[in-house]
Amino acid sequence: MKKILVCGAGGFIGGHLVKALLDLGHKVGAVDKKPVEAWCQIHDAAESRTLDLQLRDACAEAVRGYDEVYNLAADMGGMGFIENNKALCMLSVLINTHLLVAARDCGAGRFFFSSSACVYNADKQKSADVTPLTEADAYPAMPEDGYGWEKLFSERMCRHFDEDFGVVARVARYHNVYGPHGTYDGGREKAPAAICRKVIEAVRTGRHEIEIWGDGSQTRSFTYIDDCIKGTLLLMGGDCAEPLNIGSSELVSINGLVGIVEEIAGVKLARKYNPDAPKGVNGRNSDNTRIKSLFGWEPSTRLRDGMEQTYRWIYDEMMRAGREGKASRVNLH
Ligand code: NAD
Ligand code: GDD
Repeated sequence: MKKILVCGAGGFIGGHLVKALLDLGHKVGAVDKKPVEAWCQIHDAAESRTLDLQLRDACAEAVRGYDEVYNLAADMGGMGFIENNKALCMLSVLINTHLLVAARDCGAGRFFFSSSACVYNADKQKSADVTPLTEADAYPAMPEDGYGWEKLFSERMCRHFDEDFGVVARVARYHNVYGPHGTYDGGREKAPAAICRKVIEAVRTGRHEIEIWGDGSQTRSFTYIDDCIKGTLLLMGGDCAEPLNIGSSELVSINGLVGIVEEIAGVKLARKYNPDAPKGVNGRNSDNTRIKSLFGWEPSTRLRDGMEQTYRWIYDEMMRAGREGKASRVNLH
């Protein structure tokens, strides 16, 4: 049993990670900037605290006494958020920097950083018919403006703290992660949850139409949360000192994603395309050669199956919020 700190534990991935670590029998500390009642998941067996990890003293207080630190805290969201909040995204550099300093000073054994597929060079993502991205494709650097630059810089900070200060650092490049307990409205939601919400709204209001950002031909690979957590634990326990893709390699267009959700909901909607909405790169997929060779494993949940779980959860949340006449807990950022 280890003493493990999860930063950003009030968020989507952090909440699932706390549960997985508790299930493995670890003693888990959970920290987030949000008040605990606004966390996506609350696990009573964890020690949950509210701290602003952009502050150096808060990071020192948070990390003290823990053997390992997982940093999932960041000011982030889907394209709608990161395209319009570049400075806020970049300020997350303070979180990772102060946490690394605290981990070094407290002698924490291992440090995990949640990086992103947004670090990859934009030139490699111009076509919807994209060649899957290998880890080497981050350089020469031309990442997503704001959010991607912060992630790429923080990856390097991890590398140098590992090399120079002996903080054993592990870095995952997550590819668009979705599943139950993720944000589905309020502006930070990503496409899988947004499309579920929009389909449910269309059915509820009887307006059988859906707005899709862009022309729907953009492609992505979406990673189910259970695969994200499994990959995170494998990476943290392993020897790979380089950043590693944790992402599904099942490529789908946004039109295809909408089709899957329509099928789950049992509806067919008129599609209204919005060319002025945030679009991001035209295509992105994960090359999983390295993770397969290291761990004999890659994310394997079929999109249709993961979306079914996600749709059901969002549907139940929206019905509950509607009955109670209030916004759901996941949106109180
Ligand atoms: P999330 O927004 O649900 O969770 C992030 C949490 O960090 C939030 O609860 C937020 O309150 C907290 N936080 C923000 N600023 C903080 C601060 N100053 N101090 C303490 N806590 C703070 O996001 P998520 O989807 O769970 O993502 C977790 C991590 O994984 C993030 O670093 C994100 O950039 C990265 N990531 C996520 C995805 C994805 O698709 N979800 C993809 C790539 C990378
Ligand atoms: N969010 C959202 N909402 N996207 C939509 C919608 C909608 O209603 N309709 C269509 N899209 C399109 C977007 O225009 C974009 O082209 C695509 O769906 C995917 O959008 P997002 O899911 O918001 O983000 P992303 O895949 O471009 O980037 C996300 O994944 C990265 C990791 O792969 C972001 O969450 C990043 O923060 C993350 O690091």
